[in-house]
Amino acid sequence: MVEKLYEGKAKILYPTNDAEILLTYFKDDATAFNAQKRGQIQGKGEINCAISAALFEWLETLGISTHYVDRPAPNQMRVRAVKIIPIEVVVRNIAAGSLCKQTGLPEGKILPFPLVEFYLKNDELGDPLLTSDRLTILALATPEQIEQIKFVTLKINQHLSEFFDRCDITLVDFKLEFGLDSQQRLLLADEISPDTCRLWDKAESDINARVMDKDRFRRDLGEIESAYQRVQQRVLEQIARKGEW
Ligand code: TMP
Ligand code: ASP
Repeated sequence: MVEKLYEGKAKILYPTNDAEILLTYFKDDATAFNAQKRGQIQGKGEINCAISAALFEWLETLGISTHYVDRPAPNQMRVRAVKIIPIEVVVRNIAAGSLCKQTGLPEGKILPFPLVEFYLKNDELGDPLLTSDRLTILALATPEQIEQIKFVTLKINQHLSEFFDRCDITLVDFKLEFGLDSQQRLLLADEISPDTCRLWDKAESDINARVMDKDRFRRDLGEIESAYQRVQQRVLEQIARKGEW
């Protein structure tokens, strides 16, 4: 077996014969609260790989550059090698999670505009929220790259919000990561999955029953696998029908 390049909480990265291409292996391991809570979600690796692959491929057709190459096995994705910018970009359409905890906004409040936030990707520091000036001082990306990240992120939010709407799912918030390839091109990287999005089933009004994402694991709501499977089914169904939109 080839030696791994990097192992994260949910994925392992392997080199390939091509220096420009890496192989990502999606794990069933789940963590929350900066890995203080650990578990497994059966089949998650395959589901998240399938959902991410489908969404990346679709976003590419809309002019969004991603690191996605192909999916050689159900839980494996080949991606362009990028240097990840250590910023977690979060977009929020509806108040939930840490936004409610930190501001007192009620969960479910529709925000007047999509809120784009930058967090430092650093587990030891607990991924702190960055102010605009902290972001400038840390110089993790150039001001132009930050502007480009914001612009692309808002475009992705528009596309994904409409897409999940068609799936009868509300896209509450999500997290993106970006990287730079060998030619310094900015590519959307990491994954887009129920691990990295808050997704509420529009058909359910109950605040627990509507949850279709990793909050089921974070909040011990049970039926995690079936929720992930339902997201996969709806996403793949909509992608297959995109000619009809
Ligand atoms: P938050 O409300 O906990 O800040 O999360 C906002 C969004 O970001 C939510 O969709 C989950 C996602 N997220 C990650 O993908 N990774 C993380 O480490 C955290 C904290 C959140
Ligand atoms: N993925 C993060 C972790 O374990 C946090 C989360 O998604 O809640 O640490």
